[in-house]
Amino acid sequence: MRVLSGIQPSGKLHIGNYFGAMRQYLKLQSEENECFYFIANYHAMTSVQAADELQSYTDEVARGYLAVGINPDKSVFFRQSDVPEVCELAWILSCVTPMGLLERCVSYKEKVEHGLRPNHGLFFYPVLQAADILIYNSHIVPVGQDQKQHLEVTRDLAIKFNNTYGEILTVPDPYIITATAVVPGLDGRKMSKSYNNTLELFEPAGRTKKKIMRIVTDSTPVEAPKDPDNCTVFALLSLVASQQETQEWRERYRRGGMGYGEAKKRLAELTNELLDPFRRRYDELCRNSDYVEDILREGGKKARSVAQELMEKVRTATGITKQK
Ligand code: ADP
Ligand code: TRP
Repeated sequence: MRVLSGIQPSGKLHIGNYFGAMRQYLKLQSEENECFYFIANYHAMTSVQAADELQSYTDEVARGYLAVGINPDKSVFFRQSDVPEVCELAWILSCVTPMGLLERCVSYKEKVEHGLRPNHGLFFYPVLQAADILIYNSHIVPVGQDQKQHLEVTRDLAIKFNNTYGEILTVPDPYIITATAVVPGLDGRKMSKSYNNTLELFEPAGRTKKKIMRIVTDSTPVEAPKDPDNCTVFALLSLVASQQETQEWRERYRRGGMGYGEAKKRLAELTNELLDPFRRRYDELCRNSDYVEDILREGGKKARSVAQELMEKVRTATGITKQK
């Protein structure tokens, strides 16, 4: 099976990204699958318009994914823009895209409501995403719940294209990541770079600890029983602790006689245990930027040759080039 997913370089990676997406990408890296993971730098242009910022987020995300365990011997890891054919396919697909289909996309409306300037790229975004998926004949596309509608658009466009020009595109199955519920941020809302409430994957351990110790909790006194299911500290703890330890904390919350400070301290300890090896690899990669660049370039070449093969068929089927 070919697995494909993209990551926008639009901010610093945080543990919400790790538990919500990255961990699943790692799990899918196995003998049976051929994984294509890419950095969606064209997509990020819809929100990041400073060139140096886009560049540095792209580098950070590349190092970040390698640091947590994307293995370039097992996966094709590349930059979206190293396969420029994807923009060509996006245009061709846009000519079989009904306007109404894009007008119904909620992520466009939500982003505009959150204050993002409504440029055409933002509106066109799902078509480019469909091109990303279809150009590599992908079967499985692991994404979070928020991307479900974009996968439906992709399937619709593949079917429309095939009906118009013949069976050329593979209609992918969605693989929605549901294993992890939404990871809460330090303020209890969804952890997101736009809310400034994240635990970043590669910040120093001291900063992580400080942020955790400052999580706002309710004012239940130490001796009183507490509700684990309404507590950000417990929700985060259950992600990093073993099942058995999580169960023990659940009981300690319910029993009372435990202060939030204790739970926070353990949360900081376990979070830093998880992140320390990632940080070390990340720092190593910062000192080896040529190595990272080589991986991306090599991945880009492999991905591009797959894309070019499909594009030959697409160009002929659409009458853009003459049948040989
Ligand atoms: P952000 O909300 O910080 O902008 P992105 O939209 O770039 O994050 O998310 C990239 C991936 O990480 C997506 O697949 C998304 O589903 C996942 N993700 C982001 N934040 C969370 C979270 N708080 N909980 C679970 N998954 C998340
Ligand atoms: N839109 C996705 C996100 O915000 C990123 C993305 C771009 C993507 N192209 C893709 C995901 C192709 C899966 C497949 O998370």
